[in-house]
Amino acid sequence: MKKPWGGRFQQSTDTLMEQFSQSISFDRILYAYDIEGSIAHCKMLAKCKIIKPAESKKIIRGLELIAKEFEDGRFEIQSCLEDIHMNIESRLAEMIGPVAGKLHTARSRNDQICLDIRMYLRDQVGEIRKEIHRLAKTLLGLAKKNIDHIVPGYTHLQRAQPVLLSHHLLAHLEMFLRDRDRLEDGLKRINVMPLGSAALAGTNFPIDRDYVAKLLKFPEVAHNSMDAVSDRDFLIEFCSTASIIMMHLSRFCEEVVLWASSEFNRIELSDAFSTGSSIMPQKKNPDPAELIRGKTGRVYGNLVALLTLMKSLPLAYNRDLQEDKEPLFDTVNTVKSCLTVFNGMMQSAKFIKVSPEKLDRKSVV
Ligand code: ARG
Repeated sequence: MKKPWGGRFQQSTDTLMEQFSQSISFDRILYAYDIEGSIAHCKMLAKCKIIKPAESKKIIRGLELIAKEFEDGRFEIQSCLEDIHMNIESRLAEMIGPVAGKLHTARSRNDQICLDIRMYLRDQVGEIRKEIHRLAKTLLGLAKKNIDHIVPGYTHLQRAQPVLLSHHLLAHLEMFLRDRDRLEDGLKRINVMPLGSAALAGTNFPIDRDYVAKLLKFPEVAHNSMDAVSDRDFLIEFCSTASIIMMHLSRFCEEVVLWASSEFNRIELSDAFSTGSSIMPQKKNPDPAELIRGKTGRVYGNLVALLTLMKSLPLAYNRDLQEDKEPLFDTVNTVKSCLTVFNGMMQSAKFIKVSPEKLDRKSVV
């Protein structure tokens, strides 16, 4: 298949190379943002009289139909078309003919992909903040429900002083609230509109970037086109916040695992959030807590992958940057599912009261 960039090329791409360089298998999840961004860009091109109103109408109509095809699962992905941008653009050309090419005026895939991931991430940050909010409510509920519940407080994992269980639970709550603030703060740096940067040096067309930013609800436009298409610090920052969330979850999970043991006997997890053993029927395993603790490693790994990806990259866009997506998507999915499952596990858990005589420093647990 002829590539949109294939003008000066005499040979077709090797199939091995095609498979190696494609990103459509994972960037397809960005389709709705890609289309929304293209519609805004197209409206701007018409407003600035760079394309005719009739052309803009035709392009927008086509893009809306493509969005529908995706939603209904009818869109036929072509992996030889590399990525989500080229898949959509080529389908548009199939639908409305050569006028489709005008959508690419004053734009490059380099600024387009930055727009897509920024739109994706700001939505996901919103979702994660909601999950944290739900968890905060659960912890507050548990603290209230068990308000008269006294437990040993530890230092060095040795019994130190008796504390209220609510005191302990609300310590974790504080950590999650700071995580929520960190996400909110990072949003400022995610929510910047990069279009207009084109490949790296901007464009000579008389575009209106503020108009695109307004349509797409970005409070700010990127100042420097070379920076806009090439840095991924906002992703690294997000993955660092995500790593801190996982670290906080993992600390809590470690305690749940301890508490669920017969030695501690402090918490009873519901059957719905535990697993058993076929050969040891007495067992009820705190698998969700262990899995969350385990998944922390992959989120840290994704952060290191992104930092290493960016290290030594010269300005401006480099194809290496395509490798930013899988660690990002994996981080988002992992953090979201861990927060949801942790919340479910805690909501359904029962705390077991420690009898006063057992609170003594020397008593056997
Ligand atoms: N799939 C590419 C990425 O994720 C889109 C940008 C491609 N740009 C290019 N000049 N080849 O980064």
